[in-house]
Amino acid sequence: MKSFDVVVIGGGPGGYIAAIRAAQLGLNTACIDEWKGADGKPALGGTCTNVGCIPSKALLQSSDNFEQAGHHFAEHGVKVKGLELDLAQMMKRKDKVVKSNNDGIVYLFKKNKITFFHGRGRLKSGSEVQVGEETLQAKNIIIATGSNPRALQGAEFDEKLVLSNTGALAIPDVPKRLGVIGAGVIGLEMGSVWRRLGSQVTILEALPTFLGAADEAIAKEAAKVFAKQGLKIETGVKITKVDKKKTVTVQYTGHDSSSKILECDRLIVSIGRVPNTEGLNAAGVGLKLDERGFVAVDEDCRTSLPNVWAIGDVVRGPMLAHKAEEEGVAVAERIAGQKPHLDFNTVPWVIYTSPEIAWVGKTEQQLKAEGVEYRAGVFPFSANARARALGDTTGLVKFLAHAKTDEILGVHIMGPFAGELIAEAVVAMEFRGSAEDIGMIVHAHPSLSEALKDAALGVDKRSLNI
Ligand code: FAD
Ligand code: NAI
Repeated sequence: MKSFDVVVIGGGPGGYIAAIRAAQLGLNTACIDEWKGADGKPALGGTCTNVGCIPSKALLQSSDNFEQAGHHFAEHGVKVKGLELDLAQMMKRKDKVVKSNNDGIVYLFKKNKITFFHGRGRLKSGSEVQVGEETLQAKNIIIATGSNPRALQGAEFDEKLVLSNTGALAIPDVPKRLGVIGAGVIGLEMGSVWRRLGSQVTILEALPTFLGAADEAIAKEAAKVFAKQGLKIETGVKITKVDKKKTVTVQYTGHDSSSKILECDRLIVSIGRVPNTEGLNAAGVGLKLDERGFVAVDEDCRTSLPNVWAIGDVVRGPMLAHKAEEEGVAVAERIAGQKPHLDFNTVPWVIYTSPEIAWVGKTEQQLKAEGVEYRAGVFPFSANARARALGDTTGLVKFLAHAKTDEILGVHIMGPFAGELIAEAVVAMEFRGSAEDIGMIVHAHPSLSEALKDAALGVDKRSLNI
């Protein structure tokens, strides 16, 4: 029987990063993953690399280029004649980006001498994992089996007409009418891709508002911007029936209780994701799951079984790749006897729409609900010189700081490169910085980051550029 210090089940961002960190720390490490790429061969990287973060961002970039060339280059005096979409090439490029990330992980496994097993990992006990015919002896097991898309009852995924994220990233021709159920992160990102490529996109959302996790001011502004771009978002709906023939017919009740019908050529269902514990044999070995089916863990990612840990989408907390990765690093370090630190309050969110939306820390509505005294500073990109030069002035930066201590409690950005800009706020919050600290730091001119400085100064009502 092969023996390891650490056996990781799942080779997504949580699992592969945990394996790399464990190996760096001198632990004899194996990783098991069952994913097969489009070519039928094993592909490392899980949901994120294969059908999530990476391919979606590749398509968001390509579709944005198409939209820029078609609608915005002329304003810069750049005329484009005969603009054409080559969707097959766009998909080919996306697949190439995915493959280079798959290959990168294989290289890192080799470099760090991680033993890889392709197949499904099944717990035989708290210290044994079966993969295929083999049983691996493990001093520690890290479960990183991720999540699967939640299906809508009566509209199961077929990846041709009713699409999960997998199908939504590989539609072979631009659908004339694209329906999306769920105005969450996937609905907005994938809806944006296909709208830019020419689809009429209608998004049906159950809740009365959308982007509930974002700051209300940003969510409201985003609703206006997306509507202007042509994304039709209907909130407060209840789906009653989905019929598939050559097209898809969605019957639903509108927010005013009226009966409505949406006819579409393809339907993306993006109503959240569920933890993936299938085939793990959790019940057989007494591994506790919580009431929602996630592997139950404490804040250090310890499960109910000694020396069995769980990380990423299969445990509580936001379903984000960087959260999974940081939990992976922390668990590997704990196994090696270290005392790592992971601050869940400073996990940033980025939604890669145009404009991008990013935030860290508390929203204004959360601070109000918690009765925290705060001050806010807001700065619009329309008053930022670099944004004007870019020709991309939609959006704003909002700082929320404690009314007495001035400590930064939350930062919310909608605008160009929000996903990059948020890093400054994350660092500041991790060091428990104040809004005044950001206001005192030299920011390059002209740069988008100056909008953060101006918003931070705005907390004390002394923004310089508005
Ligand atoms: P996963 O990535 O799901 O990996 C789990 C792996 O375990 C898979 O390879 C699976 O095959 C394998 N596995 C499961 N069970 C077994 C078993 N029993 N034996 C062997 N192998 C098994 N997050 C971001 O932070 N930024 C983004 O931009 C972003 N974009 C996204 C876009 C889309 C369309 C989607 C769907 C998700 C996106 N996410 C994004 C979320 C991100 O993909 C997940 O949070 C992340 O992949 C979770 O990592 P994980 O390691 O926990 O699980
Ligand atoms: P989500 O939780 O972001 O959004 C789901 C939406 O569907 C919600 O607004 C919800 O109210 C709505 N909904 C639920 N049931 C419904 C129903 N029956 N009818 C109509 N609407 C309904 O989930 P999503 O978009 O599927 O994404 C899953 C997760 O993947 C995200 O929460 C996020 O963690 C991750 N992700 C992250 C990205 C990023 O970081 N940029 C990009 C894409 C996904």
